[in-house]
Amino acid sequence: MPKKTVESLDVAGKRVLVRVDFNVPMDGMSIADDRRIQAAIPTIKSVIGRGGRAVLMSHLGRPKGEGFEESFSLAPVAARLSELLERPVAFPSHDSVDADAANAVAAMKDGDVLLLENLRFNKGEKAGDLGFASKLAAYGDAYVNDAFGACHRSDASMVTLPTEMGAKPRVVGLLVEKELNFLSGVLAEPNRPFVVVLGGAKVSDKIGAIEQLMPKADAILIGGAMAYTFIKALGKNVGTSRVEEDRVKDAHRMIEQAANTGVDLHLPVDHVCSTAFTEDAGDIEVFDDEIRDGYMGLDIGPKTQIKFASVISGAKTIVWNGPMGVFEWAPFRVGTKMVGTAIADATASGATTIVGGGDSAAAVDEFKLGDRMSHVSTGGGASLQMLEGRPFKALELIEDA
Ligand code: 3PG
Repeated sequence: MPKKTVESLDVAGKRVLVRVDFNVPMDGMSIADDRRIQAAIPTIKSVIGRGGRAVLMSHLGRPKGEGFEESFSLAPVAARLSELLERPVAFPSHDSVDADAANAVAAMKDGDVLLLENLRFNKGEKAGDLGFASKLAAYGDAYVNDAFGACHRSDASMVTLPTEMGAKPRVVGLLVEKELNFLSGVLAEPNRPFVVVLGGAKVSDKIGAIEQLMPKADAILIGGAMAYTFIKALGKNVGTSRVEEDRVKDAHRMIEQAANTGVDLHLPVDHVCSTAFTEDAGDIEVFDDEIRDGYMGLDIGPKTQIKFASVISGAKTIVWNGPMGVFEWAPFRVGTKMVGTAIADATASGATTIVGGGDSAAAVDEFKLGDRMSHVSTGGGASLQMLEGRPFKALELIEDA
């Protein structure tokens, strides 16, 4: 069911509480990647451009919940946001619900922007506490959820607060609307062939997504360390590659399920391997099919890269979640780069391409492919949960359109 969006709100002269996900990667006190801040700009502009007062709320990292901790302060985010918006952003410091914060909200004028300090400095946020949520609720005449990356969480600002808004409007922002259009709308009725590309370290993280997508997909390509659990399930030698022994049975079941339902399940047919899990030590070799004892697979090999790229090039819808190897290290980045480039090329040929957040979004950034994808999700855990088809309580509380 589509949700009401911020565009449907009459915001002029109103205080609009906007939950954003400014949980950005930090390098000390500097922002390492501001994509999540940029992604919230359309919603903020929609509020202030129509004379509303935007009261922004977010978490950053996982502080203890016992008050202010400088290393988790949103101060650098407030500064970056002010640059991006080219206007001042009020930032009452230290506590999101103390008298300073309440006074700063009360002093706002139409068109102003204010960012509250990290909600998780107060333990009520993680606990979903009613008292904390009702203090936040008092700051706003309407509630906007634009925090896609946190939609799988039941924190106070995501779940208790919209409940506490009572009869006041509860809508989604433009980022959440866009994420839902791609991760739920497009995938509900994908243009075919529909190809799913999965990678990353752990099968256990992806089982739910594979089970959900298997009945819909025409082909599933599996790379990354998770592939070795599947290859082991086929009875092949994987050397010292990472294997989740307790998931070998699941992998076997999924291989059988693919065969029974006619889904093309592609596993790596060759592997870039090393004797050590390091970037530049160890003896690097490429093995076909079986991996020699003493070696571990760290990237898909050249034959697999060509095979995967060829399946991708024929697809009309592609969802990609998880890298093909240790792309952060030069000797093991080619597989992920080749797959990312093939997906970008497929976009140019008319395919709809969706990149799940987290590591695959980082890879897309690293290879400068972001602008060449239909959609790169801002959610890590949230986008995976969406692929698993698990509902979000936070979104159930938003009014239907
Ligand atoms: C994320 O980065 O996945 C979200 O911001 C949620 O953060 P959390 O895992 O600390 O709840």
